[in-house]
Amino acid sequence: MTAPLIDPFQRAISYLRVSVTDRCDFRCVYCMSENMTFLPKRELLTLEELDRLCSTFVRMGVQKLRITGGEPLVRKGIMTFFDAMTRHLATGALKELTLTTNGSQMERFAGDLYAAGVRRVNISLDTLDDQKFADITRWGRLAQVIKGIDAAQNAGLRVKINTVALKGFNEDELFTLTEWCASRDMDLTFIEVMPMGDIGNEDRLGQYWKLSDLRARLGERFTLTELTERSGGPARYVRLEETGQKIGFITPLTHNFCESCNRVRLTCTGELYMCLGQEDMADLRAPLRNNPASDAMLEEAIRAAITRKPKGHDFDYSRQTVDGRVSRHMSHTGG
Ligand code: GTP
Ligand code: 5AD
Ligand code: SF4
Repeated sequence: MTAPLIDPFQRAISYLRVSVTDRCDFRCVYCMSENMTFLPKRELLTLEELDRLCSTFVRMGVQKLRITGGEPLVRKGIMTFFDAMTRHLATGALKELTLTTNGSQMERFAGDLYAAGVRRVNISLDTLDDQKFADITRWGRLAQVIKGIDAAQNAGLRVKINTVALKGFNEDELFTLTEWCASRDMDLTFIEVMPMGDIGNEDRLGQYWKLSDLRARLGERFTLTELTERSGGPARYVRLEETGQKIGFITPLTHNFCESCNRVRLTCTGELYMCLGQEDMADLRAPLRNNPASDAMLEEAIRAAITRKPKGHDFDYSRQTVDGRVSRHMSHTGG
């Protein structure tokens, strides 16, 4: 182990999110435009390079590794990478290996993921209506994702559902989604929509459903008890006394959680983003490839990058305009 990674605001960096591909088999309307251009495959880090990078971060104090995309399970050979990360769980250096997925490929991978040491997965699902699901994901089919959720639970994985709160789209499903998750013993986290990337006919303000409003509506039907426990991410949780389930709120717009940020993000080409909501990044591919025999330069590049971690994002809709947007899509940095 080396000295821990501490940023200029005294935050310890212990959580690495890795986007292993920018590609996806869905085209969610708030995430992507219809005609996305993806990175040429030759630009991607190999699975061995991803292993070397992640292992370096683990040596530098990262305890939680979340694999994201695009859709991480469409990356060819991805199980080789998960299997390789198992060794860091075995030594105890890594406390959690997990992923955020759209669930479309889960039926195929659930058992293998469990065998690799994954215990918890976050699956994105914004609606329980077949037609609305097809509309919001453009290319997705609800039944396939439900099968994926079934497979994950049958394999022993704990499932948390991520729902982007969208005005005029899933407002009417607040209780249906909540009760459906409760009936399947799944926690549910709502996310405020963030201004990331050109998505074509953009209407972020029109889509924006404040989680303070959503929470108040939930309180009309359920008794909400605030929880102090954290899962290592930005969500704040309440327990619904009537169902026992946890409901999370990820509120980049209404309540900024950046002061406790413990994470950085690596893209599939080796860019390190110190904040989801800022443009600054550090290239780790050059120090990785130029020094095949030693990780010293890589470690130095990581330390230098962490000294540039900004205080937080600047997303802001409060002036009835979309401020603080970033140019890259969510699928580039993996959420
Ligand atoms: P848990 O381990 O379950 O707490 O997961 P998590 O909330 O860290 O991860 P998840 O991938 O489920 O995050 C859900 C979404 O929250 C992401 O896709 C992003 O949209 C958003 N999110 C996560 N981290 C950040 C962050 O640091 N800043 C902002 N603005 N949004 C974030
Ligand atoms: N704002 C908020 N959440 C988003 N996601 C994708 N794009 C956005 C956005 N612009 C969500 C997905 C998924 C997670 C990876 O990020 O629905 O749950
Ligand atoms: Fe794919 Fe996730 Fe983006 Fe939807 S939100 S297009 S599932 S990366």
